[in-house]
Amino acid sequence: MARFKCIGAIYCAPFYLLHDRRGRRRSHDWNFYGAHPVGSKVNLCVEFMIRTIEWTDAGVVMLDQKRLPAEEIYHTYDDYEGVAEAIRSMIIRGAPAIGVAAAMGLALGVKNAADKSPSIEELDREFETMCSVMAATRPTAVNLFWAIDRMKAVYARVRPHGIEAIRNALIDEAAAAYREDIEANRAMGRAGQALIPDGARVLTHCNAGALATAGYGTALGVIRAAVEAGKKISVFADETRPWLQGARLTAWELAHDGIPVTVITDNMAGHFMKKGEIDCVIVGADRIAANGDVANKIGTYSVAVLAKENGIPFYVAAPVSTLDLSIPDGSHIPIEERNPDEVRMIQGVAITPQGIPAANPAFDVTPARYVGAIITERGVVHALYEESLRTITQMEKL
Ligand code: MRU
Repeated sequence: MARFKCIGAIYCAPFYLLHDRRGRRRSHDWNFYGAHPVGSKVNLCVEFMIRTIEWTDAGVVMLDQKRLPAEEIYHTYDDYEGVAEAIRSMIIRGAPAIGVAAAMGLALGVKNAADKSPSIEELDREFETMCSVMAATRPTAVNLFWAIDRMKAVYARVRPHGIEAIRNALIDEAAAAYREDIEANRAMGRAGQALIPDGARVLTHCNAGALATAGYGTALGVIRAAVEAGKKISVFADETRPWLQGARLTAWELAHDGIPVTVITDNMAGHFMKKGEIDCVIVGADRIAANGDVANKIGTYSVAVLAKENGIPFYVAAPVSTLDLSIPDGSHIPIEERNPDEVRMIQGVAITPQGIPAANPAFDVTPARYVGAIITERGVVHALYEESLRTITQMEKL
């Protein structure tokens, strides 16, 4: 059974612990649970940064995305099962963030296992189990499997040097995955912001921001970069039923950065497009097939079709770790089915008559023909995606 250890972490000076940047008092679970804060990392510079996930001596610290925006609560996980459960239950979510969390979870698992001085064969077996547990969390985001494969490759490479070497190498690799994700998002922002005109009103779906990554974001990273380039940008955020990532998380993030945002319900997107109030659409991705078909949060496909109908460019921002060139097209992407209660209820309140069936596919696939460009950290690519995606994967890292 996954052990869910819930203790808080300190990131900043005492005032930041107790107040948000507008001086409002925060809620912290280390108060709520009566546990003591750990990992006293005082760093005033991070006050305005969104801290999605972090490796600390006490464990993997995550901002609880189920509780935002009402409460900013951090959990510290001190075993890999806890990290896997956090991914499964969407305390952390978004394809790149899931990948980084998986890498940190595996590093944590190996660190704990190595502390018990096992034989190398015992560690091999335990690591296999850890990888299987992690792989069973969420099926659609390919970043999860990318991270697991990356950690497996490092394990295999350093295994001849013994357990201590494996432990250190996996911790370093998780740190590298974290760092590289932020760097990739920054590069994606620089590459993609040229597509966003000054004064643009940009529609986005779900949350593809700092919260969905190690930091800065993919789709929201491009928007942030456009703002940093001096452009006046405003955002329409689809609320994104059933989980409300747009209403809760995108709105929270953009407000945090002072970027104007208007939340709309998912069924309003066509109305605003037809009225000429949306200039472009930019979304993230959970998996992109070799032909450029894009799996992303349920509802993305409808937005893409509406955008085409209204002559509005539709862009996808995603790191190379989200490409899955092993599958020819989107029909091969596994679509996660989640608990129908997520549809039948909003924040714990039933909205359907009792016993009514509900469907809950978490993602849909947008055919490549709707995608105007895919923005990656290695540049912006266009159709024919079979060629352009293969070319960028063969490029050197930036
Ligand atoms: O179910 P979620 O919240 O994990 O879904 C997230 C999305 O669909 C994002 O758009 C995608 O992962 C890209 S995040 C940079």
